[in-house]
Amino acid sequence: MKVGVVACAGRMGKAILNEILSGSGLILAGGIVRPGHPAIGQDLAQLVGRDPIGVAVGDDAAELVATADVLIEFSTPEASLRHAALATKQGKSCIIGTTGLDAAGEARLAELARRAPIVWAANMSVGVNVLQGLVRRCAATLGPDFDIEIVEMHHRHKVDAPSGTALALGRSAAEGRKVDLDAVADRGRDGLTGPREAGRIGFAAMRGGDVVGDHSVVFAGAGERVVLSHLASDRGIYARGAVRAARWVIGKPAGFYGMQDVLGLS
Ligand SMILES: NC(=O)c1ccc[n+]([C@@H]2O[C@H](COP(=O)([O-])OP(=O)(O)OC[C@H]3O[C@@H](n4cnc5c(N)ncnc54)[C@H](OP(=O)(O)O)[C@@H]3O)[C@@H](O)[C@H]2O)c1
Repeated sequence: MKVGVVACAGRMGKAILNEILSGSGLILAGGIVRPGHPAIGQDLAQLVGRDPIGVAVGDDAAELVATADVLIEFSTPEASLRHAALATKQGKSCIIGTTGLDAAGEARLAELARRAPIVWAANMSVGVNVLQGLVRRCAATLGPDFDIEIVEMHHRHKVDAPSGTALALGRSAAEGRKVDLDAVADRGRDGLTGPREAGRIGFAAMRGGDVVGDHSVVFAGAGERVVLSHLASDRGIYARGAVRAARWVIGKPAGFYGMQDVLGLS
C-alpha cells in the first residue's frame, strides 16, 4: 500500500516518515510541504536523517493524491480540510490527526467521509484510547458526587487549547455521565469565578518546554480522588497509531472512523 505524507517536514510529519521507513511494510509514495518551503526537493528519507530513497519532498497535493492509496495528514485544520476534500474526491482514504477543528470543520470531515474512508482522531496512541474507555467507566460508576477536572500539558509550540485529547477525554467523561460535554464544559477559569458548580467538567491547559503530551483526568470526591493519567514521552506513539490506521483503513467502506474503530474498542 502506498502512503502519502502531508506536512512531512512538521514534527508529526517527520515522526510518520520515520515510522513508515522503519520496516512498516508500507510504501512511501511521497510527501509534501507548503509551497516555497525550504525542504522541497530534498530526499524524504534524508529529511529524517536516513539514507536516501530517491523520492523528493514536493508541494503538489493533487500529484500526491494521484500516486498514493492513502494520505496521512497532521497539519492545520484549514489544510486538513482542503487535502481531505482533494483525496476523497479521488476515492482515496485519509488518516487525519490534526486537532483544533471547530464543529463546522468536524461536520465537513464527516461529510467528506461519505465519499471515501476518513479516520480522524485527536490522539492516535493506543494508551490514550484505552484511557478514554476507563474514563467513561469511572465517570459512570463514581457518579455526580465526584467533580471531574481535566488537566493537560504540552510543548510551547502548541497552538490550540484545551488539547484535542483533553476534549476527547471530556467527551468520554460526559458519555459516562450521559450528558452533553458542550453544556457542562468549563474551559478556563479566571478572576472571581465563584464556587465550582456541580456537574461541570473543567479543563486546564499548561504550555511549556518540549512536553510531548500529558493528560490527567481527576475525579475529586469528598475525602478521596481518583486520578487517571497518560504521559507521552515520544511522538512515535502517535505515528505508530497513524500507520496502524493506514493499514486498517484499506478495503473499508466510505465512513467517518476514529481510533476506537481502528483498535476494535468501539
Ligand atoms: N492525533 C494525534 O495523535 C496527534 C498527535 C500529535 C499532534 N497532533 C496534531 O497534529 C497537528 C500537527 O502537529 P505538529 O506538532 O506536527 O505541528 P507542526 O510541527 O507545526 O507541523 C505542522 C505542519 O503542517 C504544515 N502545514 C501547514 N499548512 C500546510 C499546507 N497547506 N500544506 C502543507 N503543509 C502545511 C506546517 O508547515 P509550515 O511550517 O510551513 O507552516 C508544519 O510543518 C496539530 O494539530 C497537533 O495538535 C495530533
